[in-house]
Amino acid sequence: METAMTRTDSRLHLLHLDSSARFGRGGLEPHGSWSRRLSDAFARRWRDARPHDGYTYRDLAAQPPRPMPGNWVQAAYSPAAGRGPELQAALADSNELIAELRAADVLVVGMPMYNYGMPSPLKAWSDLVVRMGETVTATRDGGAVVYTPLLADRPRRAVLLASRGAEGFGPGGRYEAMNHADTAMRGVLEFIGITDIETLAVEGEELGGAHFEAIVAGALAQVDALVARWSGLGEPVAA
Ligand SMILES: Cc1cc2nc3c(=O)[nH]c(=O)nc-3n(C[C@H](O)[C@H](O)[C@H](O)COP(=O)(O)O)c2cc1C
Repeated sequence: METAMTRTDSRLHLLHLDSSARFGRGGLEPHGSWSRRLSDAFARRWRDARPHDGYTYRDLAAQPPRPMPGNWVQAAYSPAAGRGPELQAALADSNELIAELRAADVLVVGMPMYNYGMPSPLKAWSDLVVRMGETVTATRDGGAVVYTPLLADRPRRAVLLASRGAEGFGPGGRYEAMNHADTAMRGVLEFIGITDIETLAVEGEELGGAHFEAIVAGALAQVDALVARWSGLGEPVAA
């Protein structure tokens, strides 16, 4: 796996996360995942368009982040210099995931809907990357707490590539209010400074058939269009 260290200042870095519990790509491998199909299509197109960019892939379903250990909050709110070995160990996963995210200019998230929300490994990831002093700070302004996102230090973009069994969870849909996946992930990213966020989704996987195939084809075309739009970002990279 390439790591965050492969990024140079003249290149962009793509961080690609998957979180589906299904490990193939929908329509290409048996029992495959549609969110993986979309995120794979995005990453392939991106890397074709910008072969000199950095790339990190993390499969959160294959290697789920450890949910916050009991002493995580104590560790996160302790001054770094005063953390003993146990508190340092509690933050190890968080440190690694934050370093990857900080290095990224473009974040691609394969995000299935499970029980109206995001998969638990993705939720664990989000809990570990929101950290005071690392990705956000809080200060007092009179009686109010003011949060400053630390990942707003340079342009960053994210695309959420969603798959949902039923239809109607998108904007204006009959189940929009039940879509707690997109809103939660957007909220987390915006809170730490990544505010340029797109969502592309396939819906209706449970019914399948030609109707769903057309939805997938439409979503893949939208992925191509988004890569074409975003891949002009950043400085030109010499071959
Ligand atoms: C545990 C579980 C919970 C699910 N919950 C929902 C749900 O709340 N709403 C929905 O529309 N589809 C739901 N589905 C269907 C998935 O969203 C759908 O199969 C989607 O394609 C999964 O993403 P993937 O193809 O990337 O694996 C659920 C599927 C599973 C396995």
